[in-house]
Amino acid sequence: MSWIIGVGKTRFGPTSKSLVELGQEAILGALSDADIGPDALDAIVIANFLGGPNQQQLHLNSVFAGLFPGLNLPSWRVEAACASGGVAIHQACLATHHYPTILVVGVERMSDVVGSELTRNIGMAGDAVLDQQAGLNFPANYALIAQAHMARHGTTADDLAAVSLKNHSNANLNPNAHFFLKKVSRSDIDSGPVVASPLRLFDCCPVSDGAAAIVVSSRPRNGRSVPIMGSAVSSDVISLAQRSDHTSFRAASDAARRAYSEAGIGPSDISLAEVHDCFTIAELVGMEDLGLAEPGQAAALTRSSETAIGGRIPVNASGGLKAGGHAIGATGVGQAYELVMQLRGEAGQRQVASPRIGLAHNVGGIGGTCSVHILGGVR
Ligand code: COA
Repeated sequence: MSWIIGVGKTRFGPTSKSLVELGQEAILGALSDADIGPDALDAIVIANFLGGPNQQQLHLNSVFAGLFPGLNLPSWRVEAACASGGVAIHQACLATHHYPTILVVGVERMSDVVGSELTRNIGMAGDAVLDQQAGLNFPANYALIAQAHMARHGTTADDLAAVSLKNHSNANLNPNAHFFLKKVSRSDIDSGPVVASPLRLFDCCPVSDGAAAIVVSSRPRNGRSVPIMGSAVSSDVISLAQRSDHTSFRAASDAARRAYSEAGIGPSDISLAEVHDCFTIAELVGMEDLGLAEPGQAAALTRSSETAIGGRIPVNASGGLKAGGHAIGATGVGQAYELVMQLRGEAGQRQVASPRIGLAHNVGGIGGTCSVHILGGVR
């Protein structure tokens, strides 16, 4: 079993800070939280998606290892679209037998490219022919998923709005969130412009810059260290056009099955979850793929406030991607940051009451990759 011995995170949202400055801020936070210096590290893993098209900066493992000149740390970069962070944590878990203390950094700068150019760059996570040439960008793909879920399960625009309202309200309690202190009412949500029907503005995650970092170790360092009970990654064909079912992601249900099995627990043992809600429909689909709700039942749980911070299974106490922000390569690492803060009882106003086990679900593209991490359990 691996342990998270330190965490750090910047605020997610638009900023003038560079990719390196963002990463550096999160790294300093994680090292200080772990109470170690860089010389205690054995390797660095960098998760990033858009460095090539947005900043013309690849070879990021060298860029970030270079922050510690003279250490010549083994380093590598992970790219799995929006699941880059979760896959990087999984790789660190696999590698701790060789490199006992690994720094995992998720970093993304999105706001320096705007409009259709950014939409095109994000679209590179979809199939070049089946999605990109067909004009199926991310909002359009998730709109198709929402339409399929509505047709099969009777999900409504009201259900999607309930997810948005909950996550915006949670983000109001999270100083690191993209939409911290932005009051969003039900009428704001209902009157938001249509992006891709049935998804409106407040059904979509925003364009965020940000970074998060965690230190993964083969051993606990102190009483604040949090165990990684289960770590799994699964994948699927990349395009919806290649799949018969658009109401769930097999990569997610498969990663969940593997992670639960490794942790020796089931969905009913989870105290709180960070679910990949890049669009509101994705939170409902994710909860069902994770077994936190029966197929078609996640909306009812949301409407009855069971997924609120004070509910039976709080989902996205951070505000999620929807309102906490989605700095693509940083998101999976940011989810781990949130769970660690919650499990330690250090999440401030958004603290869930006495959580024991947390789950992070990080999806790449339109379900082509999914990681699931289960943290906590042993204190
Ligand atoms: N949710 C809520 N409010 C949002 C928002 C979102 N997703 N995106 C932008 N806004 C707000 C801005 O804060 C701004 O508010 P203000 O006028 O009070 O300052 C206003 O809407 C206009 O912002 P702007 O940046 O001009 O919006 P936009 O129309 O260019 O972008 C989207 C809106 C939905 C197209 C953009 O957020 C987007 O592309 N999101 C999806 C990103 C994505 O696909 N990520 C990968 C997912 S897998």
